[in-house]
Amino acid sequence: MIDPELLAEAARLIRDGKLVAFPTETVYGLGANVLNEAAVDGIFAAKGRPATSPLIVHVASVEMARSVVAAWPQAADKLAARFWPGPLTLVLPKRKEIPLRVTAGLETVGVRVPAHPIALALIRAAQVPIAAPSANPFMSLSPTTAEHVRQSLGEKVALVIDGGPSAIGLESTVLSLASNEPVLLRPGMIPASEIEAVIGTIQIANQALSQNVSHAAPGMHARHYSPKTPLMLGRIPHQGRGVYLYLTSSAAGIASRQMPGQPEEYAAVLYSTLHELDGQGWEWIAVEPPPDSPEWAAILDRLRRASATS
Ligand code: TXA
Ligand code: MG
Repeated sequence: MIDPELLAEAARLIRDGKLVAFPTETVYGLGANVLNEAAVDGIFAAKGRPATSPLIVHVASVEMARSVVAAWPQAADKLAARFWPGPLTLVLPKRKEIPLRVTAGLETVGVRVPAHPIALALIRAAQVPIAAPSANPFMSLSPTTAEHVRQSLGEKVALVIDGGPSAIGLESTVLSLASNEPVLLRPGMIPASEIEAVIGTIQIANQALSQNVSHAAPGMHARHYSPKTPLMLGRIPHQGRGVYLYLTSSAAGIASRQMPGQPEEYAAVLYSTLHELDGQGWEWIAVEPPPDSPEWAAILDRLRRASATS
């Protein structure tokens, strides 16, 4: 899966406080040693990310997760048993050893065990939890290939490990277990219903998407995950040279591309499709809205953010 020398080099870079971009099953991460504050600062600098946006801490096991958090409720145990390794981030009270830089000043921390052999091997070899946001400039599209990372962050990263295209293609589901009621902070490809089947009813954070108000979850800006080309959801402009991403039927006289009809397949190709179209000089990308149903919730969330203007 990964050349042992490359893995050893990547682990050494992490321990030396350098940035390493690595594949996960969701999107590529921009990793640094969670305990090295200068290295963590480097993540914010490389992304141009405001210090108010917390990072997710990647660990290789439940045991390692428990070394990062100050409380491990039964719900966390149940969810970890069901979904880890996998695309679920749990927000829990942090241990004091975890720098406030990582958590944007919050007393809570997001942790997950990624389901990717290279990510797991890197964390184990580095022997420290790895703080990693998606490996893209702030507000832009997340990378689902090593090439996307090289194009957008290039020389700001000491090493980009190529693990092929991300299988899931959308960022993890983020669930807070830090207060009495579990709260879904970011929808992902693990739907709320699957979480509720394990721990009972959860709250869904109101993300105030269309209004320009402060966000329920830190870092959850309305405009986010955006291609450079303006994206219209459910509206085809009358003017300009654009492309239409459709599910049901193409638009007469407009360059059109059919997207997969299954949510898992759609998610897997969405960002790579947008990255590709961004490089083609279109004036707009119009997208047919997917169904407003639970299986499509994460995709609809990202498309709404990509189409938001503020
Ligand atoms: O799939 C993923 O989650 C990818 C891969 C690399 O693991 N990572 C990712 O990280 O999407 P990032 O930094 O782009 O998004 C992290 C988001 C934050 O913007 C915030 O919404 C939420 O996770 N988050 C992290 N820590 C939090 C905390 N302590 N409280 C509330 N939300 C938190
Ligand atoms: Mg991100």
